[in-house]
Amino acid sequence: MLQSRRQILGQLAGAATAAPAFVRPVQARLEPTPNEIVGPFYPLAKPADADADLTMVAGRTGRAIGQVVELSGRIVDLAGRPVPGARLEIWQANAAGRYAHPSDDNTAPLDPNFQGYARLSTDAGGTYRIVTVKPAGYPGGGRGMRAPHIHFDLAGSTDRLVVQMYFPDEPLNAADALLRANIRPAMVIANAMGADASGILRYRWDMVLRTG
Ligand SMILES: [Fe+2]
Repeated sequence: MLQSRRQILGQLAGAATAAPAFVRPVQARLEPTPNEIVGPFYPLAKPADADADLTMVAGRTGRAIGQVVELSGRIVDLAGRPVPGARLEIWQANAAGRYAHPSDDNTAPLDPNFQGYARLSTDAGGTYRIVTVKPAGYPGGGRGMRAPHIHFDLAGSTDRLVVQMYFPDEPLNAADALLRANIRPAMVIANAMGADASGILRYRWDMVLRTG
């Protein structure tokens, strides 16, 4: 088919502005997600059921109490390349702010239907996805209230990242001592993506490793 004069002119304009082949494209260089502490409530005893749905425990029929949340995102390196096969461990307090951990002296109730811990890997595109309930904040010892957060321990092929993810628009965020001390707080606060038709709140959170 004959090309129109407009198409040919468009191609010529594109060729004129394209970088010569010997000039390397500038790689977008991201900031790494800052590390945080493991904290005292990394589970001593991992549950037998450690799948990516924390709202149900295998062998039980009940569902965890609380607002169901779907959290997903991508793990990339500083150049923005996805990190497939990264291993994630995830743990968090329940919807009342209590960890299933013997050191947690919070008097809030445990929830036998809440899994509290998950172990999963990123897919070929570096993405992960969990379904959980939104944790409540809890008293952080002498450091005031902790804002709601989810703990991550992430192992890529060369990097490890221990980090806590926070929720946007939380009144407790402004007072959380760890979040206030974070050097890049915007990188550890998830993005709200709205609710789906069944009322599940969706959040997106990407993590950036240095080398993958
Ligand atoms: Fe915590």
